[in-house]
Amino acid sequence: MPLIDRFGRTIDYLRVSVTDRCDLRCGYCMPRDFKGFEEPADWLSFEEIERIVGAFVRLGTRHVRLTGGEPLTRRNLPELANRICALDGLDDLSVSTNGTMLARHASALKQAGVRRLNVSLDSLAGDCVESITGRDCLADVLQGLEVARAAGFTPIKINMVVMPDVNAHQVREMVDFCFERGFVLRLIETMPVGQTGRVSGWLPIESVLQPIRQELDLVPEIRPLGGGPARYWRTRDGKGQVGVITPMSQHFCETCNRVRLSVDGTLYLCLGQEDKVCLRTALRQGMDDHQLVTLIRSAIDRKPERHEFSQRPEKIVRFMSQTGG
Ligand code: GTP
Ligand code: 5AD
Ligand code: SF4
Repeated sequence: MPLIDRFGRTIDYLRVSVTDRCDLRCGYCMPRDFKGFEEPADWLSFEEIERIVGAFVRLGTRHVRLTGGEPLTRRNLPELANRICALDGLDDLSVSTNGTMLARHASALKQAGVRRLNVSLDSLAGDCVESITGRDCLADVLQGLEVARAAGFTPIKINMVVMPDVNAHQVREMVDFCFERGFVLRLIETMPVGQTGRVSGWLPIESVLQPIRQELDLVPEIRPLGGGPARYWRTRDGKGQVGVITPMSQHFCETCNRVRLSVDGTLYLCLGQEDKVCLRTALRQGMDDHQLVTLIRSAIDRKPERHEFSQRPEKIVRFMSQTGG
């Protein structure tokens, strides 16, 4: 029996955060001076992650995404990717990364069986990237993108969190950049996940995309491009694709298909709620596979209906870097 929650949603997408650490400090993700990282003793080992993902795959999970923090800061990530790809029944292993270390690791990830990459890039202006991320890293990310493309990843998606008074005026430039290179651009509304003290509201993506859609004569893309919540448009010749992720202006919770495993083995049932179940303790106390499946099923029974970012923005106390996007 697949995993079906109380609202009839089939859960077939597991997002696995392999670390809560990151080499950047994006304003919407964690406070600049954040120190509350998990202790290495509490990190799930690759064996433990493989066991949990294996149980999910037996329960019908088809998409697995490795996230963080920055997943490439976890040593030997391609080895974990390799183990997950070997699980029978998994269609799709993907990675979300900030791209700074991609040039070094793209080829090993590809060889390990990772199919798709999503890369964060909020601006093409060096100073703007530095003020968002806390580091002068634009050149590294651009190089990472080129190496990943040469390694054969397709599609490569670019995640641009659109922020009022920060980068909203740069969306058109980003569209051209992505269309010229065959990257799929996704425009994302900023969610208040934890109080980083560095988020100044959010902007409805429609207000930014509508004029661009008209100018470039974009039409709806009906093919699914991945397992996530984005809705897509494309140029009539199909060469350019742009997606929108609108958790704030038009949420997509009624079609939610995913849960999140954090580096300390906590299963978070919704990005915008605190409901969670700890898998690590039971795993380390010797739980067998049957008990693991039972625990996962009972967790899914507790998945909330939707987030409440607009109604109760202060509700989520953990940061995006801790949950894993
Ligand atoms: P694919 O569609 O499989 O390529 O992946 P994705 O878009 O789900 O993954 P990615 O890690 O690139 O996430 C893109 C954005 O979507 C990030 O801002 C995530 O926080 C957001 N996102 C992904 N899943 C959810 C979700 O379940 N709820 C909400 N509110 N946001 C989500
Ligand atoms: N709101 C929206 N998107 C976010 N991301 C990280 N924090 C937030 C937030 N507060 C995005 C990053 C990354 C993806 C995994 O999540 O752009 O690409
Ligand atoms: Fe699913 Fe929660 Fe995301 Fe809504 S906010 S799509 S319910 S994880």
